[in-house]
Amino acid sequence: MKIREFGVEIWMNAFENNCELNLAETCVQSLTISELLDLAGKDASALNDLLTMKMTYGAIEGSDRLRDNICALYTQQKRHNIVVTHGTIGANALIHQTLVSKGDHVISVLPTYQQHYSIPESIGAKVDILPLREVNQFLPDLAELRALTTPQTKLIAINNPNNPTGSLMDRDFLQRVVEIARDCGAYILCDEVYRGTDQTGDGYTVSVADIYEKGISTAGMSKVFSLAGLRLGWIAAPVEVIKAVAIHRDYNTISVGMIDDHFASIALECRDAIIGRSQRITRENLAVLDAWVTGEPSISYIKPKSATVALLKYDFDMPSRNFCVQLLEQTGVMFTPGSAMDMEGYVRIGYANGADVLVEGLKRVSEFLAELREARLR
Ligand SMILES: Cc1ncc(COP(=O)(O)O)c(C=O)c1O
Repeated sequence: MKIREFGVEIWMNAFENNCELNLAETCVQSLTISELLDLAGKDASALNDLLTMKMTYGAIEGSDRLRDNICALYTQQKRHNIVVTHGTIGANALIHQTLVSKGDHVISVLPTYQQHYSIPESIGAKVDILPLREVNQFLPDLAELRALTTPQTKLIAINNPNNPTGSLMDRDFLQRVVEIARDCGAYILCDEVYRGTDQTGDGYTVSVADIYEKGISTAGMSKVFSLAGLRLGWIAAPVEVIKAVAIHRDYNTISVGMIDDHFASIALECRDAIIGRSQRITRENLAVLDAWVTGEPSISYIKPKSATVALLKYDFDMPSRNFCVQLLEQTGVMFTPGSAMDMEGYVRIGYANGADVLVEGLKRVSEFLAELREARLR
């Protein structure tokens, strides 16, 4: 099966572990196991549970304990609506692989996580892109969405909150997307890996799985739960979708690691503490970023409403990859080029990776931009 290179992942693999100040990171600052236990009100003696754990394949679809804890993030989902996967990336791949066949019609927003258009394209689906534009605050144009749908539309792939723009469709907006999908009979796959990071309220916007009979939510432990190292995600979906996914999943997953399942359960059981920490980081750090953008003459953006990322527009006539490579070489600061996500002319910043990294990183970016402005005058 031929597939396009995954732009963002290639960029990350090449530079992520060599940069000094990582402003490409999209997770809320990752937790150590010790910090996780602290947040859960446990001490190191809790690790004794691992010593008696017999390393079988474990519960194939995810333990009951884990799936019940996942259900608590939704209003309508029961244990049989949940299957545990190898990260959200595994959840997304399984949904596309299960639901999309050659010749099917798929609509995907752009920008988004590249899986959502490159996997269906590789399967031979006809993929229409629904562009998210700055003029619309990076929200979908619903008239355009409706015009793209046909009776053959199998799947509409959205991402809420959105990476890389930080835009957020609220309940009413999602409801209108649902109406459009219902009219053509399409599934909605909503990648909700950033759910829980909204800048206001309790941080949680409604899940598509809870408001649409053909709604599918994918999510995981990496972003708001700060535990990417667990490589644990899930699908919340109607039972018939979970059953169809199970057939594919038997070929590529069997089960997730028992240790991952165990720590994910602990994390979800103290979710208020972890989410509280994440919201404090994302809210305080976005205030820092916002003040910086306001005072930075060469940068503009649409202020994110959620997630951990923002798309910055720079006022220089240069490809985003050159911008990012030069920035990295001269300052040690890592951004992600828009070109890696089919959004040339922008760079993506991840602002939730520790306030110290953000403050020092932005200072160096300002120096870099000042040099670019000077060079332009010469
Ligand atoms: C929108 C989106 N979906 C999925 C993923 C993959 O997440 P996970 O680490 O849970 O596999 C990412 C990671 O950056 C993402 O940004």
